[in-house]
Amino acid sequence: MEISIFGTGYVGLVTGACFAELGNNVVCYDIDEKKIEKLKEGRIPFFEPKLEDLINKNIKKKRIFFTLNPEEAVLNKKAIFIAVGTPQKKNGEADLSYVKKAAKEIGKNLKGYTVIINKSTVPIGTGCLVRNIIKKEYKGDFNIASNPEFLREGSAVFDFMNPERIIVGIDSAGSKDIIKNLYEPFSCPIVNTKIETAEMIKYASNAFLATKISFINEIANVCERVGANVNEVAYAMGLDSRIGNKFLDAGIGYGGSCFPKDVRALHNIALNNNYKFKLLKAVVRVNNDQRLLLAEKTEKLLSNLKNKKICVWGISFKPNTDDTRESAAIDIIDLLEKKGGKINAYDPKVDYEKLRRDNKFKTVNFYSNKYDALKNCQALIIATEWDEFKNANLKRIKNLLQKPNIIDGRNIYDLNKMKKLGFNYLSVGR
Ligand SMILES: NC(=O)c1ccc[n+]([C@@H]2O[C@H](COP(=O)([O-])OP(=O)(O)OC[C@H]3O[C@@H](n4cnc5c(N)ncnc54)[C@H](O)[C@@H]3O)[C@@H](O)[C@H]2O)c1
Repeated sequence: MEISIFGTGYVGLVTGACFAELGNNVVCYDIDEKKIEKLKEGRIPFFEPKLEDLINKNIKKKRIFFTLNPEEAVLNKKAIFIAVGTPQKKNGEADLSYVKKAAKEIGKNLKGYTVIINKSTVPIGTGCLVRNIIKKEYKGDFNIASNPEFLREGSAVFDFMNPERIIVGIDSAGSKDIIKNLYEPFSCPIVNTKIETAEMIKYASNAFLATKISFINEIANVCERVGANVNEVAYAMGLDSRIGNKFLDAGIGYGGSCFPKDVRALHNIALNNNYKFKLLKAVVRVNNDQRLLLAEKTEKLLSNLKNKKICVWGISFKPNTDDTRESAAIDIIDLLEKKGGKINAYDPKVDYEKLRRDNKFKTVNFYSNKYDALKNCQALIIATEWDEFKNANLKRIKNLLQKPNIIDGRNIYDLNKMKKLGFNYLSVGR
């Protein structure tokens, strides 16, 4: 099928590459010139495992193209996906300006029947808004659909290719068949709903997962006070199929470009419809507090942080991605610096230059080797659970640190082993 994708970020690019891999002809359109130039050369603008190979394979097969020209992206397409960003506005609502702009471009360039499918996470009613924007620009026949995306950064290609469910919100039977054809290769359930319901399914899913994380973090905080071990509690809870074993890892809270903004957006959607979503308000508060716990624990351990050198391992919001949007590590480093700490930092994939360009961490010393970053530090903070941290040489860490202090926000090391090795080892809820 001839399709196009508006937006070549984590979702748009993965969607484009995977649909090309499934045999479709895909045009990827973006307004970011640098991104498109890079993509034309087969280089992807961020780190996502397996994506670059998939793009290059499909460039060679002439099944994926990149363009800055909206006309080229709209002409003769059966389906157009909108996968642009919907970041959070200051008041917590989703910023729909990118979606509106994309809808306008699509409307201006439509020539024949097309289904416009929204993959971005958007407030309920956005399908209707997109329809109205396009209608102003184009008088012909078209349909709108909602097809929210559930992939996770770090395993995005796998997730796209192995979905557990596909949600399709539609306003006509015609668009249903086109989308059904596109998703033909997948064997998971396809849930057909109204557009509004599909839009809500995405927010409800993310808000529920965020709630699970805040819940286990509160359990962890109580565990610390009563001498219980949250890992064992979570393991035993997870054996109950009504609870499930996923998203029960206690730590420093959720981050990234989705959960924080989606939870707040849903809270706002409810408020705008005269409903106070009390539970979500608490989920956000718990998460905000949890993100700062590591800095507080470090301060307690070192008495005060003034001019103390501290090493932070992990800056991305989770392993296997270079994405630092709403990463807890950023808040932790900020707080440590405010309290007078001097920071050495290491992350396997994060682009340090980009962080500096975004005006973050002007005074942080970044390292390309995790052991070099430890020298003369009074403590090591683990903020992201990269495999290379789990497999690090603990004796070497101890020799390099000035004091054997580790404050672990991801519970990656065994308590007994750390005790035997002589570390002051603080983790979460254990
Ligand atoms: N990142 C995730 O893990 C994830 C998972 C599921 C859903 N989502 C949702 O998918 C959407 C996209 O997220 P993302 O992380 O891929 O965003 P992103 O910021 O990585 O990418 C967005 C892209 O859209 C481009 N863009 C902006 N305006 C445009 C326009 N008018 N026309 C064409 N391109 C335009 C930007 O230049 C950018 O390249 C968001 O709504 C997000 O909530 C994200």
